[in-house]
Amino acid sequence: MKRTVTTLTAVAAAAALPFIQPHSLPDRADASRSTQQSTAADQARGRDPVERRIDALIRRMTTTEKLQQVQLLSDGQITDADAKAGVGGVFSLTDPDKINHFQKVAVEQSRLGIPILFAFDTIHGYRTIFPVPLGAASSFDPKVGEIDAAIGARESATVGLKQVYSPMVDVSHDPRWGRIVEGGGEDPFLNSAFSAARVRGAQGSDYSKPDKVAASVKHFVAYGQPEGGRDYNTTDMSERRLRDLYLPPFKAAVDAGVASVMCSFNSLNGVPGCANHETETDILKKEWRFDGFVVSDYTAVAETRACPPVMPAEGSCGHGTAADGPSAGAQALMAGTDQEMVSTYVRDYGAGLLRSGDISRARLDDAVRRILRVKFRAGLFENPYVDVAKAKDPASFLTPSDRAAARKAAGESMVLLKNSSATLPMSPAKKTAVIGPLGDDQHNMLGPWWGRGEDKDAVSVYTGVKAVSPTATYTPGCTLVDSEPPNIKPTDYCATDAGFDAAVAAAQAADQVIIAVGETRGMSAEAASRSDISLPGLQQQLIDRIKATGKPFAVVLFNGRPLTIPEVDATAPAILEAWFPGVEAGNAVADVVFGKVNPGGKLPVSFPVTVGQVPIYYNHEPTGRPCDIGQKYVSRYRDLDTCDPLYSFGHGLSYTTFDVSAPRLDRTSVSRNGKVTATMTVTNTGSVAGDEVAQLYLHDPVASLSQPVRRLVGFERVTLAPGQSKVVRFTLDRGAFGFHDNDGRLVVEPGTIELYGGSSSKADKKVTFTVTR
Ligand code: BGC
Repeated sequence: MKRTVTTLTAVAAAAALPFIQPHSLPDRADASRSTQQSTAADQARGRDPVERRIDALIRRMTTTEKLQQVQLLSDGQITDADAKAGVGGVFSLTDPDKINHFQKVAVEQSRLGIPILFAFDTIHGYRTIFPVPLGAASSFDPKVGEIDAAIGARESATVGLKQVYSPMVDVSHDPRWGRIVEGGGEDPFLNSAFSAARVRGAQGSDYSKPDKVAASVKHFVAYGQPEGGRDYNTTDMSERRLRDLYLPPFKAAVDAGVASVMCSFNSLNGVPGCANHETETDILKKEWRFDGFVVSDYTAVAETRACPPVMPAEGSCGHGTAADGPSAGAQALMAGTDQEMVSTYVRDYGAGLLRSGDISRARLDDAVRRILRVKFRAGLFENPYVDVAKAKDPASFLTPSDRAAARKAAGESMVLLKNSSATLPMSPAKKTAVIGPLGDDQHNMLGPWWGRGEDKDAVSVYTGVKAVSPTATYTPGCTLVDSEPPNIKPTDYCATDAGFDAAVAAAQAADQVIIAVGETRGMSAEAASRSDISLPGLQQQLIDRIKATGKPFAVVLFNGRPLTIPEVDATAPAILEAWFPGVEAGNAVADVVFGKVNPGGKLPVSFPVTVGQVPIYYNHEPTGRPCDIGQKYVSRYRDLDTCDPLYSFGHGLSYTTFDVSAPRLDRTSVSRNGKVTATMTVTNTGSVAGDEVAQLYLHDPVASLSQPVRRLVGFERVTLAPGQSKVVRFTLDRGAFGFHDNDGRLVVEPGTIELYGGSSSKADKKVTFTVTR
C-alpha cells in the first residue's frame, strides 16, 4: 500500500506516532515490567477464588515441594517416591489403574496432597482416530478440528488424563520436514483458525468438566522451519516473519484460552526454544498475557547443555547455551519455562540455584502458581480420580457416533487433485479392482501419532470398497512395510515388481481400478524427515503398468506430507489425496470414490514439482526479478519449465462446478483502525450437490517492507445444492491489512490494498480499497 514516505528510517521515525502500534497491546511499556511485579490484573486475581486458593497453598509449600511441582515425568520414570514427594505432572501414562494409584499416593501420602496432572499426546484422536491434522486442515472447516479435539478430549479424560499435547500449529514451508503432518500446513491464517477450534474442542468453556482437558499448543516457536527440513534443526528468521507467519496460530490459541504451551526443541536466532526469554516471557506471558504454564518439550531443557567430551547416556545435549545441567535448568526456568519434561535439573539442583541466585524465588513461585492455576481450573483438587469401571468399559470408546464423526471428517479432508474425463465418481455396480500396497492396510491408515488407536479398528480401503461394491477384488502388487527406525529400508518399500503381473491381471478382470499408494505412517511426524519426497519404491511403475491396461483408474494417495508426484499427475486420470484418514479410512475413501460424498477439501500446503523447489509456498514475498521461464536473469531454476508448484495452496476439485464472484466491498476506503467487509457469492453451477471453499486473499502492493504476493485473509466452506447460491462475508481490520515490522510492531500504512476472491490461491477476481490515515 502506498506511503507518503517509504524508507525504513521513516518507518522507524514513525514508531513514536500512533501510526504504528504494537499488535494487541497498547501499553508496550508493560513489556519491560517483570511478571512478578504487582499489577492491576494481579490485584483483580486476588479476588479470584482460584488465585486465593493458590496463594494459600503456595504459602504452605516448602522449596522442595515447589521444585517437585515444576517436574514432569514420563510413564517410565514415575515412582511412588515421586508421587509421595509431590511431583507436578506425568505424561504418557494411560492405564487408569496406574493413574489412580499414583494419584492416590500424591493426594493421600504427599504432605500437601496436590494432585498430579496426567498428560498425553492426543493429537488426532485418542482411540477414535481422526484424519491427521494436515488432512483435517484440508477440510478448510475448523469444525472438523473442533470435533476431533472434543472426542479426543472425552476419550482421554475417560482414562484419567487431564491435559493433551495438542494442538500442534507449526506453520511449515518444508515438506521434507516429517512433522508437517501434525499441523495445518503453510498458512498462518488457516493454522490459526484450526488452532482456536482445537482449543475450543478440547477445553470447551470450562476444562474442569469431566469430558474436557487442558490443551497445550506447540511447539513454541518457529519449529516448523528447520534448515534443510531436518527435524530439530536450527531456525533463523527476522522478527517480522516470526510475527506474521509463525506466531499467529499460537496467539489464536492463547486468545481461545489455551491452558498450556509447549516450548520447542529448535533454536531460533541462536536461542533454544525452552531457554528463550523473548518468546516465552516477553511475548507469550507479558505481551499476550498468557496466564497458563509453559511445558518444555521432551528433554529440551537438557538439550541446551553443551555436550561433554563423553556423550551422556541419555544423549540430551547440544545447543551449548548452558555449560551443564544445572545451568540448563536455571536458563530454562528464568527464560519462562515452567515445567521441565523428563530431565530433572530444576528439581534436583533448584535449591542450590536459589542459593547462588541463578534462579529467583519469585520466578519459581510464578512457575508453581501457573501450574497450580491449571490444576485448580481443571478441577483436579475436587476430582482427582478416574472412574476405572468407565475407563475399562469398551462402550466408552469408539462409539458409533464417534466413528460416524471420524468418517465424516475423513471425507471432508480429502482433496480431489485431478479428475479428467470425470473418472470419479465410479459406479459401485461395476466390478472394482483395488490394487496397491495400501489397499488392504489398517496399520498405516491411522497415521503417525495414533494415540491409543488400534490397527484392528481401522477400516481398510478394500473393506470400505467391498461394503459398497461387493464384487471388488484386492491385489497388492507390492508391499509397504512400516520400517523400524532409525532408517527407511528401501527393501521395505515396494522394492520388487514380482506382484505386478497379478495386479495387471486383476485390473484386466475388472471394470475400474482404485490404486492405493503412498507412504507408511512411520515416514512422517517426529524424526521422520525425508530428503526425497517422491512415491517410495516402485509404486509409480505399478501405476504405469495399470495404466497400460487401459482400464479407468484413480490413484488414492495416503501420505503425511506433500509428495513430488509429477509422474502420477501425468499418468493418472484421477488423483484423490486422502492423507492418513484415520479409523474410518476405507469407508471414507469409498464414500468419495463412489460419490456418496462429493470431495470439497483444498490443499493447506503446496505440492512441489520437485524437491529442489522447496521451500515453495503461495504467500512468498516478491523479488526484484520475478520468476519468468522465458528469461534468464530472474528468480527461477533453469532446469525447470515452471515457476509454480504442481498443485497450489487452496487447490481442490469437486464433482460439480462452482462460481465464486468477485468480492464486493461495503466501502472503498477505510481508516487504519476501521473495518471493511467483503462479500462473495458462491454458486453451484453443476448438477450435483457439493462443497466449495470461498477464499479471499490480500496483497499490499506498495509497503515499506516488501509484502507477500498474496495471503489468505478469509475462507468459508459452504455446501450447495445444484443451482443454489450463498453469500459469504469476511470482515477485515488492521490485523488483516497491517503487517509487522522488525521491531515487532503492527504497522498499518495508508494506501491501496488489493483483494482477490476465488476458490484457490490462484484467485483472480480483484477489487481494491484504500486505507486512509
Ligand atoms: C514431541 C512433542 C510431544 C512430546 C511428548 C516430543 O518428542 O516433540 O510433540 O508432545 O514428545 O510425547
